[in-house]
Amino acid sequence: GFEVFIWKMGDGERYKNFRSLEKALRFFSESGLTRSDAAIALGGGVVGDLTGFAASIYLRGIAFLQIPTTLLSMIDSSVGGKTSVNSDFGKNLIGTFHQPHGVLIDVETLKTLPRRELTAGFCEAVKQGTIANKELFDQTADFLEKYSPNKFKKYFSQPEFSEKLNKLIRAQVNFKAEIVTNDEREIFERDDSRSRKILNFGHTLAHALEKVTDYKHFKHGEAVGYGILAAGEIAKKVANLSQNELNLLNYVVSLTGKLPNCNHIKAEQIIEAFAFDKKNVGDSLQWILLEAIGKPKIVTNKDIPPRVIS
Ligand code: GLY
Repeated sequence: GFEVFIWKMGDGERYKNFRSLEKALRFFSESGLTRSDAAIALGGGVVGDLTGFAASIYLRGIAFLQIPTTLLSMIDSSVGGKTSVNSDFGKNLIGTFHQPHGVLIDVETLKTLPRRELTAGFCEAVKQGTIANKELFDQTADFLEKYSPNKFKKYFSQPEFSEKLNKLIRAQVNFKAEIVTNDEREIFERDDSRSRKILNFGHTLAHALEKVTDYKHFKHGEAVGYGILAAGEIAKKVANLSQNELNLLNYVVSLTGKLPNCNHIKAEQIIEAFAFDKKNVGDSLQWILLEAIGKPKIVTNKDIPPRVIS
């Protein structure tokens, strides 16, 4: 019973920019959208972030719905109301908080998701499980042990698979929603273990890896995979994460699938890139570390000896 207007945008981070934003807004206007209408984001995180941003500023804000079709956007970016575009001065630095009126997830769309996209999504799932609690961590790990992202499509013919996948995604979304409900705007002063900032576990190195490779070599979630491994190593040295839990974390990240090679990236490049991270508070970079699985801890780089990082 609704009149629907369809606009397609290019695929990939490079289209999440001001140019696409302006095109989307022009399309809204030319389609005659009013404040009683809504925008629907059907796609992955790029589509969700850009649509949400356009919806948040068109006529000072119209309703929008998220229909995420990648694993990463299902469990992470479609939930919580962060919208953004990339710009010359950095990734996701321009944006708003604008909550979707709803998020509709249909796991069938994952049947055709390429393997690297699945790996990227599962890295974010491991991230959330690790900072949440042992239960979500184990649920994610058990799922990955049983269902490898390398053979994902074939599992859809097994009746219990969709049920398990739905359960995992529901648990992941519930965790993210709980964190966001308690700290919707990521209050800058908060540094407790349930602040929204903890969702940046693995992101300090991830953002640097993405920046030094010009956002072309890694999918965001893949860079998060490496970021989790690095945060785990640092956590062992400065936050007492046990060797057993570190081994377990490394093992579960390995279950997500092969990550792109990063041997060509030099430590100095990474350290230089840390300076641009938006998690810098004043002149201090923040790291989300772990005391144990399910016990994240926010630490500034002032509290980490430089030799540990380099
Ligand atoms: N993806 C991190 C957040 O929504 O806060």
